[in-house]
Amino acid sequence: MKILTVVGARPQFMKAAAVSNVIRQKHEEILVHTGQHYDENMSKIFFEELRIPKPDYNLGVGSGNHGKQTGTMLIKLEEIYEKERPDLVLVYGDTNSTLAGALCASKLLIPVAHVEAGLRSFNMNMPEEQNRILTDHISKYLFVPTVTAEKNLKKEGIEKGVYNVGDVMYDSVIRIGKLAKENSEVLEKLDLNDNEYILTTVHRAENTNDPKRLKNIVEALNESGKKIVLPLHPRTHKYIQDYGLAFSGNIKVVEPVGPIDMIALEMHSCKIVTDSGGVQKEAFFMHKPCITMRDETEWVETVENGWNKLTGTDKNEIINGINSFNPTNEQEEIFGDGTAAKKILDILDRY
Ligand code: UD1
Ligand code: UDP
Repeated sequence: MKILTVVGARPQFMKAAAVSNVIRQKHEEILVHTGQHYDENMSKIFFEELRIPKPDYNLGVGSGNHGKQTGTMLIKLEEIYEKERPDLVLVYGDTNSTLAGALCASKLLIPVAHVEAGLRSFNMNMPEEQNRILTDHISKYLFVPTVTAEKNLKKEGIEKGVYNVGDVMYDSVIRIGKLAKENSEVLEKLDLNDNEYILTTVHRAENTNDPKRLKNIVEALNESGKKIVLPLHPRTHKYIQDYGLAFSGNIKVVEPVGPIDMIALEMHSCKIVTDSGGVQKEAFFMHKPCITMRDETEWVETVENGWNKLTGTDKNEIINGINSFNPTNEQEEIFGDGTAAKKILDILDRY
């Protein structure tokens, strides 16, 4: 079978790292990078460190408003789909690259496989929620990571083609965890000790595009007085400057780090504070208490299991979480057993 995979943003590289090499054991894969993320530390470093196959095409779409970015992807993808005539298009997650990849295939009547299907925040203001719902409804194969995702699809009338394979990011993190233990020197480089710092990431549009929310986050991190390491997403960097905000001395702001150093930073942190989808799960995989600076999460099981606390962007809530959220209870197996990619391959083989 000829499978055309579309990736474009950092979390998709993490997922492709688990899946691409596995599907290539039996099928031909054409890998298309939309170019949504393009800085070296947002793109190239993932392909190099995780040995993701080199993309066959890079559309070079870059940044832009939603319509322009998604529309440019559609135009460029259509040419490639017409030329390559794949049997299946595979997309990951919920970015504009996901939607463009799926929509373009659907219009050309090429079956779509959606990895990480069925997630819902029930907040339609999020571009990601729009992307996921639209993608799920035009997909033929829906690989869900959790039981909740399966239930969400059922409520929307999608039952056919749904497979709970577990989370491909769990596969990736198991693999990258080993690389991090063997190869990462990030603690030495940043002069950090094990278990003595909090790792933070912030990039979600609902937090960066709203000056009040971003100000609350910055003030909470500053006023916590704790040692915080913050690999800063370029989107957030831009808005921090635009709003005239500043971090205080307890916060070590660094450029985005590569995946191996990121997993190492997570492994050695004492707590994680984030608004990222992927980082919430990684915190859970590594048994790190997670404070999520959002009003809702798609990964509800991590909250129900007691390892993730939703604080929204209320300053006191974030500071309280940083100071006193310390779960110790046993975790349930929510995200499968780390063999999601192999399960996806087996299901695709049956067709
Ligand atoms: C995108 C996804 C989001 C995902 C995130 C992962 C959409 C709508 N959003 O958000 O779901 O969680 O990726 O990180 O698809 N920029 C750079 N260099 C880069 C990439 C981006 O400087 O390599 C800056 C640009 O100023 C750009 C901004 O970041 O305008 C936002 O980038 P974009 O890809 O539009 O969205 P993300 O915030 O990265
Ligand atoms: N990540 C990384 N370096 C960083 C920040 C994040 O490698 O500086 C990884 C992180 O480990 C996770 C993925 O990028 O696997 C998540 O991406 P992001 O938070 O940008 O997007 P989301 O998951 O929220 O869509």
